[in-house]
Amino acid sequence: TFSDAEKAAIVSIWGKISGNVSTLGGEALERLFLSFPQTKTYFSHFDLSHGSADLQRHGGKVLGALGEAAKHLDNLDGALDKISDLHAYNLRVDPGNFQLLSHCILVVLASHFPNEFDATVHAAWDKFIHAVSGVLTSKYR
Ligand code: HEM
Repeated sequence: TFSDAEKAAIVSIWGKISGNVSTLGGEALERLFLSFPQTKTYFSHFDLSHGSADLQRHGGKVLGALGEAAKHLDNLDGALDKISDLHAYNLRVDPGNFQLLSHCILVVLASHFPNEFDATVHAAWDKFIHAVSGVLTSKYR
């Protein structure tokens, strides 16, 4: 569960991301694939070159899902039910990869919103992405 202050921090940063999900999400994926190249194995069917349409489209989907989650902070299980099934049953992404992507998303937020992304907001977003990842990796057994 999130405190009112945490909810405010999550929603406020989402407001800054929401108009720019493809660019910011694409950058998060690019950081993921460059810093943790083993994660590329899940995306062999994508064009992973800098700024590619695949990176932008998929980055937009990932951040869009975070935006949906940010609107349902009291019911993340329900909000993420379908993509939770997808990641557990169809994609079978190794759960450790979620930490790597989470890290890259936080780096993107810190570098694009340096004034807003103070230690408190960082902590709230860390908790939020961790909770989302927890839902997406909850159905593996
Ligand atoms: C697909 C969200 C983590 C691999 C998707 C989709 C969304 C999404 C919204 C598209 C679902 C659809 O098309 O209906 C997220 C979120 C994550 C996360 C919010 C964590 C915060 C990961 C991680 C990996 C991964 C860590 C692997 C490193 C994939 C793959 C697809 C996918 C391979 C299918 C791509 C395609 O062929 O279009 N994810 N994801 N996801 N995700 Fe994730």
